[in-house]
Amino acid sequence: MNGVRIRPATDADLPAVCEIYNHYVRDSTATFDEVETTSEAWAEKKARIDAAGIPFLVAETDAGELLGYALGQPWSPKSAYRFTIENSIYLAPSAAGRGIGRLLLAEFLSACSESGLREVIAVIADQGAEASVALHRGAGFTDAGALQRVGVKFGRDLGVFFLQRSL
Ligand SMILES: CC(C)(COP(=O)(O)OP(=O)(O)OC[C@H]1O[C@@H](n2cnc3c(N)ncnc32)[C@H](O)[C@@H]1OP(=O)(O)O)[C@@H](O)C(=O)NCCC(=O)NCCS
Repeated sequence: MNGVRIRPATDADLPAVCEIYNHYVRDSTATFDEVETTSEAWAEKKARIDAAGIPFLVAETDAGELLGYALGQPWSPKSAYRFTIENSIYLAPSAAGRGIGRLLLAEFLSACSESGLREVIAVIADQGAEASVALHRGAGFTDAGALQRVGVKFGRDLGVFFLQRSL
């Protein structure tokens, strides 16, 4: 895509990553976090992701403006799950709806495949995340179940959809 680059995240990206994520913490049900995160917490999270050999990618403009990120985390600390991750993808609001998510997720899945991972699970809120459901289905994820009323945010009961992609 013209003007957009995808590359591995560096520590220098974390303040912008944190800012993008905190927008959705404050204003949406896309994440069930209710308290804004800090760059320090992101540094610890990135260190854990890197140590596990799981991809953490960012999308940026040619001018170096961060547009969004995609990362994976272990699905479970239990060792038999070691080839399975949960993925997460967030774009700056101004970058959404232009195909950048599709590009970033495709690159992320390729990187996961190259890292030897086998299964990717998306856990998506059942309200306010229509773009995410469309994005993941478009990338070959298939519906793998749902849970009702497992979260509460902004006084609303929320459930989650599970979507799964084999690599
Ligand atoms: C979800 C997200 C990463 C998608 O990235 P994007 O660049 O906006 O999406 P794209 O433009 O690549 O479009 C991907 C698909 O979603 C659809 N889509 C995009 N915005 C949509 C919207 N607001 N409502 C419904 N579908 C939408 C597109 O039509 C496209 O579907 P298609 O492939 O069937 O045509 C991005 O919108 C985002 O960061 N949203 C807020 C955070 C979030 O929900 N993250 C996921 C948490 S699980």
